[in-house]
Amino acid sequence: MGDTAQLIVDGKTYEIPLVVGSEGERGLDIARLRSETGLITLDPGCGNTGLCQSSITFMDGEKGILRYRGIPVEQLAEHSTFRETAYLLINGELPTEAQLRRFSVRLNDHSLVHEDMRSFFESYPRGAHPMGMISSMINALRAFYPSIPERSEEEEINITFARLLSKVRTLAAMSYKISLGHKVVYPRHDLSYCANFLNMMFDSPVKPYIVDEDLVDALNVFWILHADHEQNCSTSSVRAVGSARVNLYAAISAGISALWGPLHGGANQAVIEMLQEIYDSGGDPAPFIARAKDRNDPFRLMGFGHRVYKTFDPRARIIEKVCNRVLKKLHREDPLLPIAKKLEEVALRDSYFIDHNLYPNVDFYAGIVLRAIGIPINMFPVMFAIGRLPGWIAQWKESADDPKWKLYRPRQIYAGPLKRDYMPMGERA
Ligand code: SDX
Repeated sequence: MGDTAQLIVDGKTYEIPLVVGSEGERGLDIARLRSETGLITLDPGCGNTGLCQSSITFMDGEKGILRYRGIPVEQLAEHSTFRETAYLLINGELPTEAQLRRFSVRLNDHSLVHEDMRSFFESYPRGAHPMGMISSMINALRAFYPSIPERSEEEEINITFARLLSKVRTLAAMSYKISLGHKVVYPRHDLSYCANFLNMMFDSPVKPYIVDEDLVDALNVFWILHADHEQNCSTSSVRAVGSARVNLYAAISAGISALWGPLHGGANQAVIEMLQEIYDSGGDPAPFIARAKDRNDPFRLMGFGHRVYKTFDPRARIIEKVCNRVLKKLHREDPLLPIAKKLEEVALRDSYFIDHNLYPNVDFYAGIVLRAIGIPINMFPVMFAIGRLPGWIAQWKESADDPKWKLYRPRQIYAGPLKRDYMPMGERA
Protein backbone atom coordinates (compact mmCIF):
# COMPACT_ATOMS: atom_id res chain seq x y z
CA MET A 1 0.00 0.00 0.00
CA GLY A 2 1.33 3.49 -0.84
CA ASP A 3 2.19 6.01 1.85
CA THR A 4 0.23 8.83 0.22
CA ALA A 5 -3.26 9.44 -1.15
CA GLN A 6 -3.98 11.73 -4.09
CA LEU A 7 -6.47 14.58 -3.99
CA ILE A 8 -7.42 16.19 -7.29
CA VAL A 9 -8.95 19.69 -6.98
CA ASP A 10 -9.55 22.03 -9.95
CA GLY A 11 -7.38 19.79 -12.10
CA LYS A 12 -4.44 19.94 -9.67
CA THR A 13 -3.21 16.78 -7.92
CA TYR A 14 -2.10 16.94 -4.29
CA GLU A 15 -0.27 14.17 -2.44
CA ILE A 16 -1.81 13.64 1.05
CA PRO A 17 0.49 11.66 3.40
CA LEU A 18 -1.01 8.57 5.06
CA VAL A 19 -0.40 7.88 8.74
CA VAL A 20 -0.50 4.22 9.87
CA GLY A 21 -1.18 3.14 13.45
CA SER A 22 0.39 0.19 15.30
CA GLU A 23 -2.74 -1.90 14.62
CA GLY A 24 -2.64 -1.01 10.92
CA GLU A 25 -5.33 1.71 11.05
CA ARG A 26 -4.71 4.28 8.31
CA GLY A 27 -5.55 7.97 8.23
CA LEU A 28 -5.00 10.97 5.98
CA ASP A 29 -2.56 13.42 7.56
CA ILE A 30 -4.25 16.71 6.59
CA ALA A 31 -2.09 18.95 8.82
CA ARG A 32 -0.96 20.89 5.71
CA LEU A 33 -4.21 20.58 3.70
CA ARG A 34 -5.35 24.21 4.04
CA SER A 35 -1.92 25.76 3.52
CA GLU A 36 -1.39 23.68 0.35
CA THR A 37 -4.92 23.54 -1.12
CA GLY A 38 -6.92 26.29 0.63
CA LEU A 39 -9.41 23.57 1.58
CA ILE A 40 -10.56 22.32 4.97
CA THR A 41 -12.54 19.15 5.81
CA LEU A 42 -16.06 19.17 7.26
CA ASP A 43 -17.04 16.36 9.66
CA PRO A 44 -19.81 17.25 12.18
CA GLY A 45 -19.40 15.06 15.28
CA CYS A 46 -15.87 14.07 14.17
CA GLY A 47 -17.05 10.57 13.18
CA ASN A 48 -14.32 10.42 10.54
CA THR A 49 -11.73 12.68 12.11
CA GLY A 50 -8.86 11.80 14.44
CA LEU A 51 -7.54 14.67 16.59
CA CYS A 52 -4.47 12.83 17.87
CA GLN A 53 -2.37 9.69 17.75
CA SER A 54 -2.61 7.86 21.08
CA SER A 55 -0.90 4.85 22.70
CA ILE A 56 -3.37 4.44 25.56
CA THR A 57 -6.49 2.57 24.39
CA PHE A 58 -7.23 0.54 21.29
CA MET A 59 -10.80 -0.09 20.14
CA ASP A 60 -12.00 -2.07 17.14
CA GLY A 61 -15.68 -1.18 16.74
CA GLU A 62 -16.35 -3.84 14.13
CA LYS A 63 -14.83 -6.69 16.18
CA GLY A 64 -15.81 -5.39 19.64
CA ILE A 65 -12.22 -5.15 20.87
CA LEU A 66 -11.11 -2.93 23.78
CA ARG A 67 -7.52 -2.95 25.14
CA TYR A 68 -5.79 -0.64 27.66
CA ARG A 69 -2.07 -0.26 26.81
CA GLY A 70 -2.45 -3.46 24.71
CA ILE A 71 -4.04 -5.57 27.47
CA PRO A 72 -7.58 -6.86 26.67
CA VAL A 73 -10.14 -5.35 29.04
CA GLU A 74 -11.53 -8.86 29.64
CA GLN A 75 -8.18 -9.90 31.21
CA LEU A 76 -7.97 -6.76 33.33
CA ALA A 77 -11.56 -7.27 34.54
CA GLU A 78 -10.66 -10.82 35.55
CA HIS A 79 -7.19 -10.34 37.09
CA SER A 80 -6.61 -6.65 37.92
CA THR A 81 -7.95 -4.04 40.34
CA PHE A 82 -9.14 -0.54 39.47
CA ARG A 83 -6.16 0.97 41.29
CA GLU A 84 -3.70 -1.18 39.29
CA THR A 85 -5.53 -0.45 36.00
CA ALA A 86 -5.40 3.28 36.78
CA TYR A 87 -1.63 2.96 37.24
CA LEU A 88 -1.36 1.07 33.91
CA LEU A 89 -3.34 3.69 31.98
CA ILE A 90 -1.42 6.64 33.42
CA ASN A 91 2.10 5.14 33.37
CA GLY A 92 1.87 2.78 30.40
CA GLU A 93 2.94 -0.39 32.24
CA LEU A 94 1.51 -2.58 35.00
CA PRO A 95 3.15 -1.59 38.31
CA THR A 96 5.68 -3.70 40.19
CA GLU A 97 4.76 -4.62 43.75
CA ALA A 98 6.83 -1.70 45.08
CA GLN A 99 5.34 0.77 42.58
CA LEU A 100 1.80 -0.31 43.44
CA ARG A 101 2.53 0.03 47.16
CA ARG A 102 3.91 3.56 46.67
CA PHE A 103 0.86 4.44 44.53
CA SER A 104 -1.49 3.13 47.24
CA VAL A 105 0.29 5.11 49.97
CA ARG A 106 0.04 8.27 47.85
CA LEU A 107 -3.69 7.66 47.23
CA ASN A 108 -4.21 7.16 50.96
CA ASP A 109 -2.20 10.28 51.84
CA HIS A 110 -4.37 12.39 49.56
CA SER A 111 -7.78 10.91 50.35
CA LEU A 112 -8.99 13.65 52.71
CA VAL A 113 -10.52 16.89 51.43
CA HIS A 114 -10.13 20.31 53.03
CA GLU A 115 -12.74 20.75 55.79
CA ASP A 116 -13.83 24.05 54.20
CA MET A 117 -15.25 22.01 51.28
CA ARG A 118 -18.05 20.75 53.52
CA SER A 119 -19.51 24.24 53.61
CA PHE A 120 -19.52 24.23 49.79
CA PHE A 121 -21.72 21.14 49.82
CA GLU A 122 -23.88 22.46 52.67
CA SER A 123 -24.60 25.71 50.82
CA TYR A 124 -25.23 23.96 47.48
CA PRO A 125 -28.96 23.93 46.57
CA ARG A 126 -30.53 20.77 48.01
CA GLY A 127 -31.52 18.35 45.28
CA ALA A 128 -28.77 19.56 42.93
CA HIS A 129 -27.55 16.79 40.62
CA PRO A 130 -24.32 15.27 41.99
CA MET A 131 -22.60 15.59 38.58
CA GLY A 132 -22.93 19.38 38.77
CA MET A 133 -21.66 19.32 42.35
CA ILE A 134 -18.68 17.07 41.62
CA SER A 135 -17.70 19.09 38.54
CA SER A 136 -17.75 22.26 40.69
CA MET A 137 -15.87 20.65 43.57
CA ILE A 138 -13.12 19.24 41.34
CA ASN A 139 -12.64 22.72 39.87
CA ALA A 140 -12.58 24.15 43.40
CA LEU A 141 -9.77 21.77 44.42
CA ARG A 142 -7.33 23.98 42.53
CA ALA A 143 -7.99 26.81 45.00
CA PHE A 144 -6.94 24.54 47.87
CA TYR A 145 -3.87 23.18 46.10
CA PRO A 146 -2.13 25.95 44.17
CA SER A 147 1.11 24.90 42.51
CA ILE A 148 3.98 24.02 44.87
CA PRO A 149 7.03 25.99 43.62
CA GLU A 150 9.59 24.00 45.62
CA ARG A 151 8.49 20.67 44.13
CA SER A 152 9.64 19.48 40.72
CA GLU A 153 7.03 19.79 37.98
CA GLU A 154 6.86 16.00 37.59
CA GLU A 155 6.43 15.41 41.32
CA GLU A 156 3.74 18.08 41.51
CA ILE A 157 1.71 16.65 38.63
CA ASN A 158 1.95 13.11 40.05
CA ILE A 159 0.63 14.41 43.36
CA THR A 160 -2.18 16.15 41.46
CA PHE A 161 -3.04 12.84 39.77
CA ALA A 162 -3.20 11.12 43.18
CA ARG A 163 -5.25 13.96 44.67
CA LEU A 164 -7.82 13.75 41.87
CA LEU A 165 -8.04 9.93 41.89
CA SER A 166 -8.36 9.77 45.65
CA LYS A 167 -10.41 12.83 46.49
CA VAL A 168 -13.05 12.26 43.79
CA ARG A 169 -14.26 9.25 45.82
CA THR A 170 -14.32 11.27 49.05
CA LEU A 171 -16.17 14.14 47.39
CA ALA A 172 -18.73 11.79 45.79
CA ALA A 173 -19.48 10.02 49.06
CA MET A 174 -19.54 13.38 50.90
CA SER A 175 -22.11 14.76 48.45
CA TYR A 176 -24.31 11.72 49.11
CA LYS A 177 -24.06 11.83 52.90
CA ILE A 178 -24.69 15.57 53.05
CA SER A 179 -27.68 15.20 50.68
CA LEU A 180 -29.16 12.81 53.28
CA GLY A 181 -28.29 15.11 56.15
CA HIS A 182 -26.10 12.30 57.52
CA LYS A 183 -22.69 12.42 59.18
CA VAL A 184 -19.84 12.48 56.66
CA VAL A 185 -17.70 9.33 56.80
CA TYR A 186 -13.95 9.81 56.43
CA PRO A 187 -11.68 7.63 54.30
CA ARG A 188 -9.80 4.92 56.20
CA HIS A 189 -6.14 3.97 55.80
CA ASP A 190 -6.91 0.26 56.20
CA LEU A 191 -9.36 -0.11 53.30
CA SER A 192 -8.66 -0.61 49.58
CA TYR A 193 -9.70 1.99 47.01
CA CYS A 194 -13.13 0.48 46.28
CA ALA A 195 -13.86 -0.72 49.83
CA ASN A 196 -13.07 2.78 51.12
CA PHE A 197 -15.62 4.30 48.76
CA LEU A 198 -18.35 1.84 49.77
CA ASN A 199 -17.59 2.45 53.44
CA MET A 200 -17.72 6.25 53.00
CA MET A 201 -21.05 5.85 51.20
CA PHE A 202 -22.80 3.41 53.53
CA ASP A 203 -21.16 3.41 56.96
CA SER A 204 -23.23 4.97 59.75
CA PRO A 205 -22.77 5.43 63.51
CA VAL A 206 -25.91 3.41 64.11
CA LYS A 207 -25.30 0.80 61.43
CA PRO A 208 -21.61 0.10 60.81
CA TYR A 209 -20.96 -0.92 57.19
CA ILE A 210 -19.58 -4.43 56.74
CA VAL A 211 -17.39 -4.52 53.64
CA ASP A 212 -18.64 -7.26 51.29
CA GLU A 213 -15.70 -8.49 49.19
CA ASP A 214 -18.03 -9.61 46.39
CA LEU A 215 -19.37 -6.05 46.06
CA VAL A 216 -15.81 -4.71 46.22
CA ASP A 217 -14.91 -7.08 43.36
CA ALA A 218 -17.98 -5.95 41.40
CA LEU A 219 -17.03 -2.29 41.87
CA ASN A 220 -13.44 -2.99 40.80
CA VAL A 221 -14.71 -4.58 37.58
CA PHE A 222 -17.26 -1.79 37.03
CA TRP A 223 -14.60 0.92 37.32
CA ILE A 224 -12.02 -1.04 35.27
CA LEU A 225 -14.55 -1.25 32.43
CA HIS A 226 -15.18 2.50 32.58
CA ALA A 227 -11.52 3.53 32.96
CA ASP A 228 -10.83 4.70 29.39
CA HIS A 229 -12.37 4.61 25.95
CA GLU A 230 -10.03 6.54 23.59
CA GLN A 231 -11.40 9.84 22.19
CA ASN A 232 -15.01 9.84 23.45
CA CYS A 233 -16.86 13.10 24.04
CA SER A 234 -15.68 13.72 27.62
CA THR A 235 -12.08 12.70 26.95
CA SER A 236 -11.98 14.97 23.91
CA SER A 237 -13.33 17.74 26.17
CA VAL A 238 -10.50 17.16 28.66
CA ARG A 239 -7.96 17.29 25.82
CA ALA A 240 -9.56 20.39 24.27
CA VAL A 241 -9.81 22.36 27.53
CA GLY A 242 -6.35 21.13 28.56
CA SER A 243 -4.88 22.35 25.27
CA ALA A 244 -5.38 25.95 26.46
CA ARG A 245 -2.82 25.10 29.21
CA VAL A 246 -5.36 25.50 31.98
CA ASN A 247 -4.73 23.55 35.20
CA LEU A 248 -5.69 19.85 35.20
CA TYR A 249 -8.50 20.29 37.76
CA ALA A 250 -10.34 22.62 35.36
CA ALA A 251 -9.83 20.26 32.40
CA ILE A 252 -11.18 17.30 34.41
CA SER A 253 -14.13 19.42 35.56
CA ALA A 254 -14.95 20.01 31.88
CA GLY A 255 -14.78 16.25 31.24
CA ILE A 256 -17.25 15.60 34.07
CA SER A 257 -19.63 18.17 32.58
CA ALA A 258 -19.48 16.51 29.15
CA LEU A 259 -19.96 13.04 30.66
CA TRP A 260 -23.14 14.23 32.42
CA GLY A 261 -25.10 14.25 29.14
CA PRO A 262 -27.72 11.45 28.63
CA LEU A 263 -26.14 10.60 25.25
CA HIS A 264 -22.86 9.91 27.06
CA GLY A 265 -22.19 8.99 30.70
CA GLY A 266 -25.64 10.13 31.83
CA ALA A 267 -27.10 7.20 29.85
CA ASN A 268 -26.68 4.76 32.77
CA GLN A 269 -29.18 6.84 34.76
CA ALA A 270 -31.44 7.28 31.70
CA VAL A 271 -31.48 3.49 31.09
CA ILE A 272 -32.88 2.79 34.56
CA GLU A 273 -35.45 5.57 34.18
CA MET A 274 -36.49 4.02 30.85
CA LEU A 275 -36.64 0.47 32.26
CA GLN A 276 -38.68 1.76 35.21
CA GLU A 277 -41.10 3.44 32.79
CA ILE A 278 -41.49 0.16 30.87
CA TYR A 279 -42.03 -1.68 34.17
CA ASP A 280 -44.58 0.88 35.39
CA SER A 281 -46.47 0.64 32.07
CA GLY A 282 -46.90 -3.12 32.40
CA GLY A 283 -43.51 -4.45 31.25
CA ASP A 284 -44.10 -4.57 27.47
CA PRO A 285 -41.11 -3.00 25.66
CA ALA A 286 -42.91 -2.96 22.26
CA PRO A 287 -44.20 0.65 22.51
CA PHE A 288 -40.70 1.86 23.44
CA ILE A 289 -39.12 -0.06 20.57
CA ALA A 290 -41.70 1.50 18.23
CA ARG A 291 -40.87 4.99 19.50
CA ALA A 292 -37.14 4.32 19.11
CA LYS A 293 -37.74 3.35 15.45
CA ASP A 294 -39.95 6.36 14.70
CA ARG A 295 -37.78 8.95 12.94
CA ASN A 296 -40.24 11.66 13.99
CA ASP A 297 -39.81 10.76 17.64
CA PRO A 298 -36.61 12.03 19.33
CA PHE A 299 -36.80 9.10 21.78
CA ARG A 300 -33.73 6.90 21.75
CA LEU A 301 -33.43 3.46 23.33
CA MET A 302 -31.09 4.35 26.17
CA GLY A 303 -28.12 2.02 26.58
CA PHE A 304 -28.26 1.05 22.91
CA GLY A 305 -26.01 2.14 20.06
CA HIS A 306 -22.51 3.51 19.92
CA ARG A 307 -20.49 5.78 17.65
CA VAL A 308 -17.66 3.24 17.41
CA TYR A 309 -19.01 -0.20 18.32
CA LYS A 310 -21.09 -1.67 15.49
CA THR A 311 -21.34 -4.96 17.38
CA PHE A 312 -21.60 -5.81 21.07
CA ASP A 313 -19.80 -3.41 23.38
CA PRO A 314 -17.39 -5.90 25.05
CA ARG A 315 -18.00 -4.12 28.37
CA ALA A 316 -21.77 -4.74 28.24
CA ARG A 317 -21.35 -8.51 28.29
CA ILE A 318 -18.97 -8.40 31.25
CA ILE A 319 -21.24 -6.04 33.20
CA GLU A 320 -24.22 -8.30 32.54
CA LYS A 321 -22.28 -11.16 34.16
CA VAL A 322 -21.43 -8.90 37.13
CA CYS A 323 -25.16 -8.10 37.37
CA ASN A 324 -26.08 -11.76 37.68
CA ARG A 325 -23.22 -12.43 40.15
CA VAL A 326 -24.11 -9.52 42.47
CA LEU A 327 -27.86 -10.20 42.50
CA LYS A 328 -27.20 -13.90 43.21
CA LYS A 329 -24.79 -13.06 46.03
CA LEU A 330 -27.31 -10.64 47.59
CA HIS A 331 -30.14 -13.14 47.05
CA ARG A 332 -31.97 -10.34 45.35
CA GLU A 333 -34.14 -10.05 42.27
CA ASP A 334 -34.28 -6.79 40.38
CA PRO A 335 -37.61 -6.53 38.50
CA LEU A 336 -35.86 -4.33 35.93
CA LEU A 337 -33.36 -7.05 34.94
CA PRO A 338 -35.90 -9.27 33.13
CA ILE A 339 -37.25 -6.12 31.48
CA ALA A 340 -33.72 -5.29 30.27
CA LYS A 341 -33.15 -8.83 29.00
CA LYS A 342 -36.51 -8.83 27.18
CA LEU A 343 -35.82 -5.42 25.65
CA GLU A 344 -32.42 -6.62 24.44
CA GLU A 345 -33.91 -9.81 23.01
CA VAL A 346 -36.72 -8.00 21.14
CA ALA A 347 -34.43 -5.23 19.86
CA LEU A 348 -31.73 -7.60 18.61
CA ARG A 349 -34.33 -9.47 16.54
CA ASP A 350 -35.69 -6.26 15.01
CA SER A 351 -34.43 -5.31 11.55
CA TYR A 352 -34.21 -1.60 12.50
CA PHE A 353 -31.64 -2.32 15.23
CA ILE A 354 -29.87 -4.90 13.10
CA ASP A 355 -29.67 -2.56 10.09
CA HIS A 356 -28.46 0.32 12.29
CA ASN A 357 -25.92 -1.89 14.13
CA LEU A 358 -27.48 -0.99 17.46
CA TYR A 359 -26.36 -3.20 20.34
CA PRO A 360 -26.33 -2.77 24.14
CA ASN A 361 -23.48 -0.52 25.26
CA VAL A 362 -21.69 -0.24 28.60
CA ASP A 363 -24.59 1.72 30.11
CA PHE A 364 -27.32 -0.83 29.43
CA TYR A 365 -26.72 -3.11 32.41
CA ALA A 366 -24.53 -0.74 34.44
CA GLY A 367 -27.44 0.78 36.35
CA ILE A 368 -28.66 -2.61 37.54
CA VAL A 369 -25.28 -3.35 39.11
CA LEU A 370 -25.25 0.05 40.79
CA ARG A 371 -28.80 -0.40 42.11
CA ALA A 372 -27.80 -3.76 43.57
CA ILE A 373 -24.80 -2.17 45.32
CA GLY A 374 -27.14 0.49 46.74
CA ILE A 375 -25.93 3.53 44.78
CA PRO A 376 -28.72 6.14 44.35
CA ILE A 377 -29.74 6.61 40.69
CA ASN A 378 -28.63 10.24 40.45
CA MET A 379 -25.10 9.12 41.37
CA PHE A 380 -24.86 6.64 38.50
CA PRO A 381 -23.09 9.15 36.19
CA VAL A 382 -20.79 10.07 39.11
CA MET A 383 -19.81 6.38 39.30
CA PHE A 384 -18.96 6.56 35.60
CA ALA A 385 -16.87 9.71 36.22
CA ILE A 386 -14.87 8.09 39.05
CA GLY A 387 -14.15 5.15 36.74
CA ARG A 388 -13.18 7.38 33.80
CA LEU A 389 -10.87 9.63 35.80
CA PRO A 390 -7.66 7.60 35.22
CA GLY A 391 -8.39 7.61 31.48
CA TRP A 392 -8.91 11.36 31.43
CA ILE A 393 -5.66 11.83 33.37
CA ALA A 394 -3.74 9.49 31.06
CA GLN A 395 -5.10 11.20 27.94
CA TRP A 396 -4.37 14.70 29.33
CA LYS A 397 -0.83 13.56 30.28
CA GLU A 398 -0.23 12.13 26.81
CA SER A 399 -1.27 15.42 25.18
CA ALA A 400 0.75 17.52 27.68
CA ASP A 401 3.85 15.33 27.06
CA ASP A 402 3.49 15.78 23.30
CA PRO A 403 6.12 18.33 22.11
CA LYS A 404 3.62 19.34 19.41
CA TRP A 405 0.85 19.99 21.99
CA LYS A 406 -1.32 22.57 20.19
CA LEU A 407 -4.33 24.64 21.16
CA TYR A 408 -7.57 23.00 19.86
CA ARG A 409 -9.04 25.44 17.36
CA PRO A 410 -11.23 23.71 14.69
CA ARG A 411 -12.17 25.63 11.52
CA GLN A 412 -15.66 25.97 9.96
CA ILE A 413 -17.43 26.54 6.67
CA TYR A 414 -19.30 29.87 6.99
CA ALA A 415 -22.91 29.65 5.78
CA GLY A 416 -24.29 32.94 7.10
CA PRO A 417 -25.33 36.28 5.47
CA LEU A 418 -22.93 38.06 3.12
CA LYS A 419 -21.48 41.49 4.06
CA ARG A 420 -24.19 44.05 4.84
CA ASP A 421 -24.31 47.47 6.58
CA TYR A 422 -25.62 48.31 10.01
CA MET A 423 -29.29 49.44 9.81
CA PRO A 424 -30.44 52.26 12.07
CA MET A 425 -33.43 51.39 14.28
CA GLY A 426 -35.83 53.62 12.29
CA GLU A 427 -35.16 51.72 9.05
CA ARG A 428 -35.76 48.23 10.47
CA ALA A 429 -38.96 46.38 9.61
C1 SDX B 1 -21.18 6.16 26.13
O1 SDX B 1 -17.93 7.35 22.62
C2 SDX B 1 -17.74 6.55 23.62
O2 SDX B 1 -16.82 5.78 23.68
C3 SDX B 1 -18.76 6.68 24.74
C4 SDX B 1 -18.73 5.63 25.83
C5 SDX B 1 -17.48 5.76 26.67
O3 SDX B 1 -17.10 4.75 27.29
O4 SDX B 1 -16.95 6.90 26.78
O5 SDX B 1 -18.79 4.34 25.28
C6 SDX B 1 -19.90 5.82 26.81
O6 SDX B 1 -21.49 7.31 26.01
C7 SDX B 1 -22.03 5.06 25.55
C8 SDX B 1 -23.30 5.58 24.80
C9 SDX B 1 -24.37 5.91 25.86
N1 SDX B 1 -25.50 6.59 25.21
C10 SDX B 1 -26.67 5.97 25.04
O7 SDX B 1 -26.90 4.81 25.32
C11 SDX B 1 -27.76 6.88 24.46
C12 SDX B 1 -28.52 6.15 23.35
N2 SDX B 1 -27.64 6.00 22.18
C13 SDX B 1 -27.73 6.97 21.11
O8 SDX B 1 -28.12 8.23 21.45
C14 SDX B 1 -26.61 6.84 20.10
O9 SDX B 1 -26.49 5.51 19.79
C15 SDX B 1 -25.23 7.43 20.41
C16 SDX B 1 -25.32 8.87 20.76
C17 SDX B 1 -24.58 6.66 21.51
C18 SDX B 1 -24.37 7.28 19.15
O10 SDX B 1 -25.09 7.87 18.13
P1 SDX B 1 -24.36 8.43 16.81
O11 SDX B 1 -23.16 7.63 16.50
O12 SDX B 1 -24.19 9.91 16.93
O13 SDX B 1 -25.41 8.07 15.71
P2 SDX B 1 -26.75 8.86 15.37
O14 SDX B 1 -27.35 9.45 16.61
O15 SDX B 1 -26.45 9.75 14.24
O16 SDX B 1 -27.68 7.63 14.93
C19 SDX B 1 -27.41 6.97 13.69
C20 SDX B 1 -28.74 6.26 13.37
C21 SDX B 1 -29.95 7.22 13.39
O17 SDX B 1 -30.92 6.67 12.56
P3 SDX B 1 -31.09 7.28 11.03
O18 SDX B 1 -31.51 8.74 11.21
O19 SDX B 1 -29.71 7.15 10.40
O20 SDX B 1 -32.14 6.40 10.41
O21 SDX B 1 -28.99 5.27 14.37
C22 SDX B 1 -30.18 5.63 15.07
C23 SDX B 1 -30.46 7.08 14.81
O22 SDX B 1 -31.83 7.36 14.90
N3 SDX B 1 -29.91 5.39 16.50
C24 SDX B 1 -30.83 5.00 17.38
C25 SDX B 1 -30.15 4.86 18.60
N4 SDX B 1 -28.86 5.17 18.42
C26 SDX B 1 -28.72 5.50 17.12
N5 SDX B 1 -32.18 4.77 17.26
C27 SDX B 1 -32.81 4.39 18.39
N6 SDX B 1 -32.22 4.21 19.60
C28 SDX B 1 -30.89 4.44 19.74
N7 SDX B 1 -30.30 4.27 20.92
